[in-house]
Amino acid sequence: MSGFVSFVGAGPGDPDLLTVRALDRIKRADVVLFDDLAAGPILAHAGAGADLVGVGKRAGRPSPKQDHVSRLLVEYAQAGGRVVRLKAGDGGMFGRLEEELTALRAAGVDFEIVPGVPSPFAAAAAAGIPLTRRLSARRVQFVTGADISGGLPPDLNMAALADPMACTVVFMGKRTFPALARALIAHGLPSDTPAMLAEAVATPEQCLTRSTIARLAAQLAQDRGTKPALVFYGPLAEGYDD
Ligand SMILES: C[S@@+](CC[C@H](N)C(=O)[O-])C[C@H]1O[C@@H](n2cnc3c(N)ncnc32)[C@H](O)[C@@H]1O
Repeated sequence: MSGFVSFVGAGPGDPDLLTVRALDRIKRADVVLFDDLAAGPILAHAGAGADLVGVGKRAGRPSPKQDHVSRLLVEYAQAGGRVVRLKAGDGGMFGRLEEELTALRAAGVDFEIVPGVPSPFAAAAAAGIPLTRRLSARRVQFVTGADISGGLPPDLNMAALADPMACTVVFMGKRTFPALARALIAHGLPSDTPAMLAEAVATPEQCLTRSTIARLAAQLAQDRGTKPALVFYGPLAEGYDD
């Protein structure tokens, strides 16, 4: 007997930001395999009899290997029942969704994908800023600040990232932002380009800090803390007062 897997986007952390469909799948799950960033109060919506299995990967900490997570997912599905694979934000954004889909397809396990609110959308909403601006930010780009080794990916398109008409959001980029900011400035982006650090968005630890790319790089070189964070930069609209 083969079960069924629902990949569920958990949103950025606040259960209020779950979709109705996500909540339904979590409530009816027999097993929930969850990432660190998709844990917390969202798991309280699982049924009392559901198995909750943490498979979280966090930078700088020992974490389960992706192969192990994919194998576990297939094994739970093949044991039968409703399996929820809970991923932070939207599972399709820097969420290693592809590897897990490939494993399920190879094993002949049926699945669905339930989208979630990606963390940049929640951060922009919390900051009271739009991601696009009619005349000055005609483009939005999402980029990872870390490759598999944790360093700045060497193959980033720096011309695109230094585009002054784009709003850029860097995932997993706290550690590498000082290097990225140096490269952006070398590619012509002014050092006083507005920036925002959005930490632990939609959680009780949420912290939004307005800055510039040069100031934020200096701050993160000194102290980057442990909260998950996004770095925004570009022609950001005025939002909250910091
Ligand atoms: C593996 S990626 C997952 C992204 C997720 N799929 C999404 O749609 O937001 C993890 C990174 O997403 C960002 N992130 C996820 N949730 C966040 C939150 N609540 N606050 C700030 N950044 C968050 C951070 O850059 C974190 O290091």
